[in-house]
Amino acid sequence: MTLIKEFIFDPPNFLYLIFIFVLTYISQFYFRYFTRQHPIPGPIPFPLIGNFETYHPNSSQWARELQKKYGDIFEVYSGGLFTLNNRQIWISNASLTDKLLSPYTNNNFPYRTTENEGLDKMDMTSKGIVFNRNVNSWAYNRRIVVQVLMAPKFLKTAVKNTEELFFEMEKHWEKLGYLNDAKEQEIELDLVNWMRRFMTDSVFNLTTNTKSYALLNYFNTFNTLNKDERESNNDHFLRESEKFVNYIRLHFVACIFFKDTPKILRTILPANRKKSRELLDVVAWLNSKVLELIRERKKEIEKADPDEELSADMLTLLLTINTNRDPKYVKTTDKDNLIDARPMSEDEVRENVYEIMGGGIDTTANTFCYVVYYLTHYPEVRQKMLQEMEKIFGKDMNREITYEDLNKLNYCGAIIKEVSRLMPTVSVLFRVSAKPDEIAGYKFLANTQFFINVPAIQMHPSHWNQPEKFDPDRFMDSEQQIPKNALLHFGGGARVCMGKQLAILQLKALMVLLYRKYDVELVDMSGGIKYSSTVVNHCEELPVKIKVKHSA
Ligand code: HEM
Repeated sequence: MTLIKEFIFDPPNFLYLIFIFVLTYISQFYFRYFTRQHPIPGPIPFPLIGNFETYHPNSSQWARELQKKYGDIFEVYSGGLFTLNNRQIWISNASLTDKLLSPYTNNNFPYRTTENEGLDKMDMTSKGIVFNRNVNSWAYNRRIVVQVLMAPKFLKTAVKNTEELFFEMEKHWEKLGYLNDAKEQEIELDLVNWMRRFMTDSVFNLTTNTKSYALLNYFNTFNTLNKDERESNNDHFLRESEKFVNYIRLHFVACIFFKDTPKILRTILPANRKKSRELLDVVAWLNSKVLELIRERKKEIEKADPDEELSADMLTLLLTINTNRDPKYVKTTDKDNLIDARPMSEDEVRENVYEIMGGGIDTTANTFCYVVYYLTHYPEVRQKMLQEMEKIFGKDMNREITYEDLNKLNYCGAIIKEVSRLMPTVSVLFRVSAKPDEIAGYKFLANTQFFINVPAIQMHPSHWNQPEKFDPDRFMDSEQQIPKNALLHFGGGARVCMGKQLAILQLKALMVLLYRKYDVELVDMSGGIKYSSTVVNHCEELPVKIKVKHSA
């Protein structure tokens, strides 16, 4: 025994053993890599690290470079001790997405992530929609939330709400003295900052029928002079609402942190332990606040007269669906329909409320900024858009906007599509296989992760004529068939975005409200869009000059 110890701890021998260990590890790694089942082209990974590209934040950029080198289907590895377990298959051609984006809820790619202990800890893999891996529960939640989001009453309320909030935002601009005092009635502002607050107030109000005061709080950061006005707005209440809004964002940060940080790193590293604790505190605080909101609303519903029309916000609709306050409710004893016909639990309502808030705020705010950016660069498109608006609203810049009006704005719809084709707000779609399968002649095991490369597909020369050209008319021309799954800015298949109709309505309403009354230019016309890219392309800033039109 002593002899063995002496041999091992003798410095030259010790180094030699380490060398042997590393060599064995590397050899077995590459042996496993080069003899892997069903190989696909792709860059060779490094032990422990995987492919360096996967650490680069701008995934759409490196994925397009790898597409050029390896073709429309390639594989990369994202690191870890047993790297070959973290295989990612990137798909960059619409014709290869048929199975992945199948519309059937029982398709072979029902999950967005592989099993994930971190998301389990966040209680997200068996509730809600976005990360729910329990297919029955996901389908139940999705069916109910879609029913709410598509209800004409809800969509009409959303149009009204967008209009009212826009008027509020204009009042803030005016109060700041920009519009009233400036001779040319011109203001300069960072549009993305205003739009984030705008969408926060909008989605919060549509979800809970209460105010989040994000626009007012933002206005107050400029309004340092007018202290009396600030105090009359009840600072304490505003602080609480600001906390709520910030925590909803942190909830998203928490999801990504728990999803991507292995348990061992979360528990061993002191900085991560602290972060885990802080994020879990955020989640606990939010849970208690949302549950408070839910219980208050339940009491209001119980107290309401049976004939009284209830508010059309998401919370009320989720709490009443499949109850006797639901106008479409039919009591069923049919065993197969029983799951669908039950009301939602408080926990389910809570999770859906978070997800709607998380899914609907930044996405729509960013997309609107990209629309504005493109319209400033293409005056002929802007002109054509104004003509379409004039046909519907006439010259009255204050005429009320209705849901029916917005549905007639086809060219505005085409602009949104074309902007989102060139600058998709969400750049990757995730799918995971439930069973072994085959795509493009390659066989895959169950639990394989697929990453659908949205920018590459939306610019693919075999799907689009002159893919680099900004041309909204390509969506007006019925002759020109857009290949299936070539436009994926809202995703596709069974997990397609559920807020799509709502987002399009809100974007069109914002286009009308801004452009019929104002001329909008970029402060710096020569610069490109400033954005950072992870899964969501976040607009970093968009300084614009907004000028009241002379005839206003
Ligand atoms: C312009 C705005 C928006 C964009 C660009 C956008 C984009 C997307 C994309 C790309 C997906 C993934 C779809 C897939 O994997 O195939 C998605 C999913 C989702 N979106 Fe949106 N979205 C927007 C607005 C909204 C709004 C307003 C809401 C809610 C009110 C919302 C709620 C959701 C939800 C809940 C999912 C998950 C669906 C599922 O997993 O079944 N989104 N969205």
